[in-house]
Amino acid sequence: MVCTVVVDGFFGDGGKGKIVSYLAVADKVAVCARGGVGPNAGHTVVNDGVTYKLRMVPCGFVKPDTKLLIGPGVVVNPEVLLKEIAELGVEERFGLDPQCAIIEPKHIEADRRGHLKEVIGTTGTGTGPCNADRALRVAKMARELPELKELITDVPTELNEALDRGASVLIEGTQGTYISLYHGTYPYVTSNDVCAAATISDVGIGPTKVDEVVLVFKAYVTRVGEGYLEGEIDMEEAKRRGWDEYGTVTGRQRRAAPFNFPLARRAVMLNGATQLALTKLDILYPECKGAKDFKELNQEAVAFVEKIEEDLGLPVTLIGTGPGVHEIIDRR
Ligand code: IMP
Ligand code: MG
Repeated sequence: MVCTVVVDGFFGDGGKGKIVSYLAVADKVAVCARGGVGPNAGHTVVNDGVTYKLRMVPCGFVKPDTKLLIGPGVVVNPEVLLKEIAELGVEERFGLDPQCAIIEPKHIEADRRGHLKEVIGTTGTGTGPCNADRALRVAKMARELPELKELITDVPTELNEALDRGASVLIEGTQGTYISLYHGTYPYVTSNDVCAAATISDVGIGPTKVDEVVLVFKAYVTRVGEGYLEGEIDMEEAKRRGWDEYGTVTGRQRRAAPFNFPLARRAVMLNGATQLALTKLDILYPECKGAKDFKELNQEAVAFVEKIEEDLGLPVTLIGTGPGVHEIIDRR
């Protein structure tokens, strides 16, 4: 039995979706539960040539018999959720906690004007205003909505029972360490803590139950919305390097910068990481595209991986070499 938490060590968009979907298959995960903030997240999964953009359903869906859960810490947009569930056809193996807070149209409106839009540059998904209402104790709960009735389940109990019977459990975080409400670059942050400890709290698992904390870093750094980004390059330069990316939820071009060692070291500390995943190595070193064995990497790529391991004091166990779920080097 293994309980693994996957979180991002920079500003999000590091490729957690791909890592989570790979681990679900490779580790024969029985339950994949999503913590994190809400539908402000966008996780991309490319499986068998099909690209999925998920905002609510856990990325473990690629393994056909994995149970999919959303923990009480997450705020839910019922429309987005029900559409994804129907598109993926996962009704039978999906569960939502009764205490998830519900995003209402007024939250989306509030997120698309004034301070949140102009100063912070939020995703406009209503996530922050819904969390504000949760803190004020006036938010609607998933248990109050008839259209969600069939999906409701006690997520902490399901997860802890799965662990008790020796099943493998995967906890999927969202966003990234430096847009955490507590540990990020406040006020240019999201509306909840998104580090490993918060993520397990989101789904109702205690810290003594966790075996592995996989911290995901992309081979370069990106950030969307406002806030300082050390070493930021301009959009044209990003395009030349192939670092130009566009937000899954908002379509905005992400700002880009080189891999940041001091931030990465601090993220290891803040998350209590036990291993590292490095994604998009093929963007820095195109020769690595599709590699499945560490021996296939060129010298420069190997040197980069080794520098990260030395500097952060942890093994890089998973290396992404392409967008596909199985374009990965697994060194565990
Ligand atoms: P909010 O989470 O929509 O309130 O947005 C607050 C800040 O977090 C903005 O800078 C967003 O661009 C950023 N943000 C929120 N969700 C994500 C994500 O999934 N990836 C990257 N940035 C995000
Ligand atoms: Mg994302």
